[in-house]
Amino acid sequence: MGTKIVLDTDPGHDDAIALLLALASPEVEVLGVTSVSGNQTLEKTTTNALKILEFVDRTDIPVHVGCDRPLVREQWAAAYVHGESGLDGPDLPDPTTKPAEGHAVDFIAQAVSEHEGVVLVPVGPLTNIGLLLARYPGIEERIARVVIMGGAIAEGNVTPAAEFNIWADPEAAHRVFTSGIDVTMVGLDVTHKALLFPQKVDELREAGRVGGLVAALYDFYHGHHQRMYGWEGSPVHDALAVAHVVSDRFLQTEHRYVEVDIGPEPGRGRTYVDLWQRSGKEPNCHVGVGVDGPGFIDVLVDRLKSLK
Ligand code: BDR
Ligand code: CA
Repeated sequence: MGTKIVLDTDPGHDDAIALLLALASPEVEVLGVTSVSGNQTLEKTTTNALKILEFVDRTDIPVHVGCDRPLVREQWAAAYVHGESGLDGPDLPDPTTKPAEGHAVDFIAQAVSEHEGVVLVPVGPLTNIGLLLARYPGIEERIARVVIMGGAIAEGNVTPAAEFNIWADPEAAHRVFTSGIDVTMVGLDVTHKALLFPQKVDELREAGRVGGLVAALYDFYHGHHQRMYGWEGSPVHDALAVAHVVSDRFLQTEHRYVEVDIGPEPGRGRTYVDLWQRSGKEPNCHVGVGVDGPGFIDVLVDRLKSLK
């Protein structure tokens, strides 16, 4: 059996691809999926998680509903990236399954209590993980690692300073980064250097129903990256975080001190990374600084092709 993970997610196109990668990877075992509001409302992100699991006939994996709004700030959806449904593009049927009983936060607490070595992989705003730490004091000791998609050393994709997942709930992120847990940050510095190009997606398009689904997701999602950045490929942010749990061969990391800006704009949501160790503060995060983009994309595409 592989590393036990909980995927905490707000699907979201790249979230959906991250979930599919996890399901296609024997190195990880998905104990459950927990939903959070972020790319879209909680109702929509939960529905989207159920849709994906049903599409690949993995309704054995429970989906637990999490937080419907950030800890402090107002809720704000990223419809400009992911569309009104949060998963615009493919024509997925409504799910026939329902979310599992019990709040996401309680499910995660139970999962890490019952199993040794559970890795949390939050690829949306960190609200559920922040609330988990508040509700279950001492739970940090039971969490092997948190591998986050979020943050950046020096760029933003929602404001000039901030990456979406951190900006969407900075207070929750602050709580996670100051928790003492072994945290890895898979940020824009690396996800923006690991692009999925249309030529690779055409391989998927020809590779059966899951490949076709991913191609339809990509066609919508890539439109945003073409319009906004003028890029010929698109980052698959959340899948890179999952890939880093599958294997550490894609990412180069540095152990550094990271602090989340929980003040007002323009810095709100920024992750200050003490890359050159100027603060004298103890490192609290493995920061992704380099990536084998083509190597990651090859494995991603091969794994997705293997799903039927
Ligand atoms: C992150 O924001 C979301 O839109 C994506 O799903 C990803 O988790 C990238 O900044
Ligand atoms: Ca996400």
